[in-house]
Formats: sequence, structure tokens, C-alpha cells
Amino acid sequence: MKRRRVAALISGRGSNMAALLAAAESPDYPAEIALVLSNRADAAGLAHAATRGVPTAVVDSRGFRGDRAGFEAAMEAEFGRHGIELIALAGFMRVLTEGFVTRWDGRMVNVHPSLLPCFPGLDTHARALAAGVRLHGCTVHLVTAGVDEGPILAQAAVPVLPDDTEATLAARVLIEEHRLYPAALAWVAAGLVRVEDGRAVLSGVDAASGCLANPLPSAPVLSKR
Ligand code: GAR
Repeated sequence: MKRRRVAALISGRGSNMAALLAAAESPDYPAEIALVLSNRADAAGLAHAATRGVPTAVVDSRGFRGDRAGFEAAMEAEFGRHGIELIALAGFMRVLTEGFVTRWDGRMVNVHPSLLPCFPGLDTHARALAAGVRLHGCTVHLVTAGVDEGPILAQAAVPVLPDDTEATLAARVLIEEHRLYPAALAWVAAGLVRVEDGRAVLSGVDAASGCLANPLPSAPVLSKR
């Protein structure tokens, strides 16, 4: 099996990138993380990647004020140096140009901390709490030009509990991100995904595994009168 060479793009902590690295340690995994690239030199995840022996690069977005195409060209020069075939956005907090997204069409995935199309953008957990939703979660999707749009590969749902804060809800969702992202990236790397009418179609993947509900709901508890 030829493992596809993936660049994981981060801007901070890098826990999703770490989950991808851990998955890719299995020889059966169809991708290897060949590069961890950050737009910030102080991204904590860079150190984790380095300790695992994964090549890292910093393309500091602040050096390209207003020149997004220049920033992306610098990233793509790094991708070229490392033979990158796929991109996994993992907490990468820069909006990409349509040109870049088009060049990587079908070859770039993102993890987002909400059940898209609900709550695209920032502050997803606070917005979920404010909206009073009972289910929240995360989505892995192919990247298209619209922010947090693009064909959905997989989603995981978690309950929103009465005492939740932004932090407790984020932590519950993050556990699912770490399960979901390696699975969905593997489908793309293994060539199991095609797009029809703007939706992702998975071949050879158990249909239910693309829509994880976790935890499964327990029987309702009725209060006794
Ligand atoms: C994750 O929750 C990821 O879903 C989110 O940023 C966090 C990064 O954490 N991404 C976005 O909001 C992108 N729209 P990590 O650096 O520990 O993986």
C-alpha cells in the first residue's frame, strides 16, 4: 500500500494533528504525516511533531500582510519540498483563497467543532450553548471555497448537558474530533471518497460509520408523580 503524504496545518495546540500522527503510526493507515506546517512560530503543536520526528515548517502569516496568495505560495513551496499530496487542516485559523482551494480540490480536509451547517466560523461552543441546542458535535469535510462549507465526510454528535460551560462542551467535542478526523482522513487517503452533486459519497465504508452518534441515547427517564 502506498501511503499518501499529508501536510497537517496548525495554528496552535495541535491536538487534532497529534491524533492524526498517532493514527498514522499504524502501518495499515493509508496516510503518513509528512509535514506539520504552522502559520505561527509559537504554535504548541510544532514541538509535539518535532518530538515525533515529523518535519515541521513555519510560514508566518504576519510576514504576508494582505498578500494571501504570497502566503499560500510560500506554503506550497514547503509542500513541494516534502512531496505533499493531501492537506489536513487541523485548527488552522487562516482563510484560504479560492485559487488555493481550487488547486487542492478533493485533496484538502478540515475538522470543524460543530455539526455543520450549524455554526460555521468561530466560537462554535458558545453559540451552541446560546442557541440551546441539545446536540452539538464536530464535522470533517472536504474544503471548498466557502468557509466551513464543503462536502461532509463524517460527523459525531455529543449531548449538551444542563451544566455545560464553553470549556466542558469543547472538551466533550474534542474527544470526538480526535476519533473522527483520523477515520475520515483515511477514507480520503485510501481513495474511497467521490463527490456527487456537492455531497461526499463513500465507497467501501460502512454507511453508519460516517455519522457517529456518541454516546447513544439512553432510555428517557420519566419523573414520577
Ligand atoms: C479544534 O477544535 C478544531 O476543530 C478547531 O480548532 C480547534 C483546534 O484544536 N478548528 C476550527 O475552529 C476551524 N474552523 P487543536 O489545535 O488542538 O487541534
